Amino acid sequence: MEEVERYHKVVIYFFSLTGNTLKIARVIKKVLERRGLIVKLRQIKKNITIEEADVYGVGTLVMYLDIPKIVRETLSKIPKGAKVFCFITHGGVPGTALYTMTKILKKNKCTVIGAEKFVGYDSWTPYLPFKLQWGRPNEYDLKKAEYFGLKIAKMVKQKKTSEEKVKLNKLLKIFYAFLRFVQKKLLIPKIKVNKKKCRKCLICVAKCPINAIKVVEGYPQIPESCERCYFCEKVCPSNAISCNWTLYRIVAAFYVPLLKIYWKRR
Ligand SMILES: Cc1cc2nc3c(=O)[nH]c(=O)nc-3n(C[C@H](O)[C@H](O)[C@H](O)COP(=O)(O)O)c2cc1C
Ligand code: SF4
Ligand code: SF4
Repeated sequence: MEEVERYHKVVIYFFSLTGNTLKIARVIKKVLERRGLIVKLRQIKKNITIEEADVYGVGTLVMYLDIPKIVRETLSKIPKGAKVFCFITHGGVPGTALYTMTKILKKNKCTVIGAEKFVGYDSWTPYLPFKLQWGRPNEYDLKKAEYFGLKIAKMVKQKKTSEEKVKLNKLLKIFYAFLRFVQKKLLIPKIKVNKKKCRKCLICVAKCPINAIKVVEGYPQIPESCERCYFCEKVCPSNAISCNWTLYRIVAAFYVPLLKIYWKRR
């Protein structure tokens, strides 16, 4: 009990659009609480201030084979020397995400006490018709989250913590960077607001996870800083933010079935 009290507060920051990462974060929170720790869950937002804590957790969805900029910024704000665990949820190709997280933390002289990836159904708009990883995180993933939570609880209580290392092959890094470039520069569509359809309800403004949409004459305006998560397109009740996914869907039709076969065997 003495050891638990020395590290009693854990804050878990999470970035989740459709709830997969939040589900995992909640399981980890529960496990840590069962082990006597005080745990707070905090959604990652623009200009977030980091609370004081003994241990931090950061969880995010994977976007474009890496982590969103807002998560990078949050990771860099974590106090130097802190003990941190990180986790991601992904739809099948996690890319450099976990590697990037640990790299930022190490640059900040933090001790990475755990790093884990979990599968979540793929919420990437052009993949939705393929129902990739449908139903996940499932019981298996939630169990894995429990084990991860137990591992973290053990690390928190230990006097000496061993550091988690995430390695990534150099060639793979280059390959992922190339894929990211193709996706972002050639395949993803522009986000446009159709003023004729827009009812000025501003739901998109309220739901933008990075709080980036400006309002001009009552209409939403997509800013330069947009993370291209397309969540605004998903939540608009009037289909006023409709993007042209044709090219991406055609390309995806070639490789997504292969991804499905790959994941069926795992
Ligand atoms: C814009 C966007 C890009 C994505 N890119 C990837 C990716 O490169 N690799 C991957 O495995 N999953 C990718 N995904 C899928 C998500 O990482 C996955 O569905 C995740 O579990 C969603 O978590 P959430 O429900 O917490 O938002 C992407 C999803 C979105 C919305
Ligand atoms: S959610 Fe759709 S209808 Fe509402 S303000 Fe945004 S674009 Fe317009
Ligand atoms: S795609 Fe839409 S919801 Fe996502 S960051 Fe850009 S403006 Fe915000």
